[in-house]
Amino acid sequence: MTNRTVINTDRSKGSINRNIYGHFSEHLGRCIYEGIWVGEDSDIPNTQGIRNDVLEALRKLNLPVLRWPGGCFADEYHWRDGIGPRETRKRMINTHWGGVVENNHFGTHEFLLLCELLGCEPYINGNVGSGTVQEMQEWVEYMTFDGESPMANERQANGREEPWKVSYFGVGNENWGCGGNMRPEYYADLYRRYQTYVRNYGDNRIFRIACGASDFDYNWTEVLMREAARFMDGLTLHYYTIPHNWQRKGSATDFETSEWFETLRKALVMDELVQKHSTIMDKYDPQKRISLIVDEWGTWYDVEPGTNPGFLYQQNTMRDALVAAATLHIFHNHCDRVRMANIAQTVNVLQAVILTEGARMTVTPTYHVFDMFQVHHDAEALDINHQAASYSLNGASIPQTSVSASRGKDGVIHVSLCNLSHDEPAEITLELRGLTQQTIGALSLSGTLLQGNALNAHNTVEQPEEVSPSELTSIEQHEDGTIRVTLPPASVAVLRAG
Ligand code: AHR
Repeated sequence: MTNRTVINTDRSKGSINRNIYGHFSEHLGRCIYEGIWVGEDSDIPNTQGIRNDVLEALRKLNLPVLRWPGGCFADEYHWRDGIGPRETRKRMINTHWGGVVENNHFGTHEFLLLCELLGCEPYINGNVGSGTVQEMQEWVEYMTFDGESPMANERQANGREEPWKVSYFGVGNENWGCGGNMRPEYYADLYRRYQTYVRNYGDNRIFRIACGASDFDYNWTEVLMREAARFMDGLTLHYYTIPHNWQRKGSATDFETSEWFETLRKALVMDELVQKHSTIMDKYDPQKRISLIVDEWGTWYDVEPGTNPGFLYQQNTMRDALVAAATLHIFHNHCDRVRMANIAQTVNVLQAVILTEGARMTVTPTYHVFDMFQVHHDAEALDINHQAASYSLNGASIPQTSVSASRGKDGVIHVSLCNLSHDEPAEITLELRGLTQQTIGALSLSGTLLQGNALNAHNTVEQPEEVSPSELTSIEQHEDGTIRVTLPPASVAVLRAG
């Protein structure tokens, strides 16, 4: 099958905001507790309670931004329960996720410490569903007020002298559902009211994020933009890729070829969603001041057999690597409007980049995609014209390949490529327009390839290297300057041309 891509190296589509590579960590299952927080007294090596192996793996990804504490948990979270001496913190029931006791040991100080250790921006999601305006106002004051104030004094008494820098603040989560079952008109008014008290103290400037739609709910976006656009900097979108349906989602590892295809077909729906929500936003915000923030995305399968259904723990295979790569390409392509995205969720939940089991951990195929694609962080997206061969199964068709290209600040061009086909290799011919023949001839070409020995290849703590990147060897440069890359079935690659 032939796939042909023209890369217009002299035409930029804008910058790929590194925040598109953001993550989401909720008080859900084993994401925060065990996955990130083990406590200072744990036998698992840790830095002030945060496990070192996970810290090290996340540092390697250069995580730009991390969203917390939820999710549905955010609209039941009362931040004051998570400050002060840990042993006296209030315990609560995590009603959404398994009905387990939440001891609040991981709170504001611990989360902001994690962000400092990772060198990433915090994205805090406030409580509109069951919280008060005063509570939200005081949280922002507690974190960011520099000087003498009741909240700043309390923060200092709890051991933090300097205010933190908090750039991103979400005013509610899924307020059309778990965040209060509101109508868009009602939420739009509440949003206007709550955000008024999310104040900028001192030099801290908060980027205010309104709760947006799920999937195809275009009316929610319309109403929010019509009623509240001037009060927001970002509007969210949530979309999960589910092979079947909410009742029977399908297994993460034990799947048929038809489920492979269907998962990828559904992942590609992200393109339509981003386009259509953006078109509505364009109507009210033609200058594209407001960002579309896809702060929950990824695959959602049935939980691993024998695990707590409320913990959303699933394995992660080459199928997830393809979903991640193709979705990130969609975000690159819409980088003029999509300026942040947060995969759900960082550790042990849904499409995680890390899985832990007690003291052991492994990184997933999705982790490797985020690692390989780091070259796109803040790079200039190049205009491309990609003609993909067709990948068909049971009467349906999707493109066999997905390609994205960017130029880094050092001038190096990176092209990321995926072959979605489960059984056919893909030959992709790349033509770099806008460069002289001499420059093209002098390019040094190299690359990295991610593939598995089966469609459901995955890593476990026993076999953490089952899926790991290798050198991309199938690169040929022709006399006319075109480059040909052959990708094995079900694989992701990044080509470096510099
Ligand atoms: O990521 C899991 C859940 O999915 C989040 O808590 C919620 O916002 C969404 O429905």
